[in-house]
Amino acid sequence: MPAKILVVDDEAKMRRVLQMMLEENGYKVDLAGDGEKASNKIKQSDFDLVITDMKMPKKSGLKLLREIRKVDEELPVIVMTAYGTVPTAIEAMRAGAYDYILKPFDLEEMKAVVKKALAVEKLLRRSRYLQEELEAKYQFEDIVGKSIKMQEVFKLISQVAPTKSTVLISGESGTGKELIARAIHFHSPREKEPLIVVNCAALPETLLESALFGHVKGAFTGAHRDRRGKFELADGGTIFLDEVGAMSLNLQAKLLRVLQEKEFERVGGTGSIPVDVRIIAATNKDLKKAIEEKTFREDLYYRLNVIPVYLPPLRERKDDIPLLAYHFLRRYNQELKKNIKEISPETLELMAAYNWPGNIRELENAIERAVVLGKGECLAANTLPLSLANGSASFRKTDDNLSYQEAKKEVLQSFEKRFLSKVLSKARGNVSRAARLARLDRKNLYQKMKELNINPKDYQ
Ligand SMILES: Nc1ncnc2c1ncn2[C@@H]1O[C@H](COP(=O)(O)OP(=O)(O)OP(=O)(O)O)[C@@H](O)[C@H]1O
Ligand SMILES: [Mg+2]
Repeated sequence: MPAKILVVDDEAKMRRVLQMMLEENGYKVDLAGDGEKASNKIKQSDFDLVITDMKMPKKSGLKLLREIRKVDEELPVIVMTAYGTVPTAIEAMRAGAYDYILKPFDLEEMKAVVKKALAVEKLLRRSRYLQEELEAKYQFEDIVGKSIKMQEVFKLISQVAPTKSTVLISGESGTGKELIARAIHFHSPREKEPLIVVNCAALPETLLESALFGHVKGAFTGAHRDRRGKFELADGGTIFLDEVGAMSLNLQAKLLRVLQEKEFERVGGTGSIPVDVRIIAATNKDLKKAIEEKTFREDLYYRLNVIPVYLPPLRERKDDIPLLAYHFLRRYNQELKKNIKEISPETLELMAAYNWPGNIRELENAIERAVVLGKGECLAANTLPLSLANGSASFRKTDDNLSYQEAKKEVLQSFEKRFLSKVLSKARGNVSRAARLARLDRKNLYQKMKELNINPKDYQ
């Protein structure tokens, strides 16, 4: 079916020229002489694209655009504007125009912009559909993540949560390891039993040993009575061993015994005590390297790493940043009794350019701070921590419009990337199959994959 395009301009000649060019290229064209007529036509018919002049009697192009955006987030609008009205063009971009084109323009240029807008629209609509499908499937309260990588994590934990399998969660500091461990426990049949958290890096060896396994009276100076350890407290439930890489080799041997024999001994005790616990461990260290360095037991590693869950750093899933930022904005608005409604585009842009060494915890802290300092209804860039603003200064362009365009391009690319990854994994990396699934031309798909740096082999 040919795409349907609405051309809006008060100049009859312009309408005619565009109509001819578009029809020659196989599109269906409808015309409107002002914004008012255009908006009536849009209400009655389903267009795939609108091309509109900015300055028109009755209703300006900008007004028309704003009206469209209220009812349709994805209908692409190309704005035509004369030299000298560039600021309005920028305003139009901010209001959600797909692109603008300066008058007078070359028909070839218009043709290219139209073609691209229609292709992107198709991708957006489809990726939105896929996204909604994914969202419905893997929802965990309070864990935010739309990126393909996080959706994969959600899928995995929804599969392992109901089992008793041991899980090893790895990832940099602040990537959400503890949050995921809790989600696994609270989506398991043990949810009503205790979840006991032990930070293995927080205690020196002897204290950690008695914390984990308990001790009997007189086991060491200060042991005035028998004490139950965390493993006993967790009986029937789950134990979360955070920073498991920090355990001494001696304790590692004892932990291995719990995993193998499902029993342990209290410090100073003689009999073994059976336990039924599910073990979830976490580490921000590379345990493989620790094995090479002989600071971590290989046999324990394999016992723990039954189900590996890797949490990617935030800089590798930047499309989650706006979502997370708004998530924390809501939380701190509530906590601090503020009413900041939105985050300015510059702020989001700065956040997208930054590399977040402290991951989600750092983002959370930045938002908390900004909410404390912020005034009014919009979270402005100057309330961000200095390191963030400085760190990404080189990414900023003085030309406001240029940087906005770049941000938009990035968003579109991440949409496309997400969409194509999804299709490719459905097609198990077979490009011809993926092209059929996505109803894309195989050559175009190859081209797109090259542009976006996607390797089909990764999906086989
Ligand atoms: N996907 C997410 N959605 C919402 N909040 C998140 C998400 N991931 C992490 N957080 C929040 O970020 C903070 C840090 O997460 P968490 O403590 O689980 O990280 P961690 O990997 O255990 O870090 P560390 O290695 O430093 O202990 C927490 O406040 C957590 O609630
Ligand atoms: Mg932690």
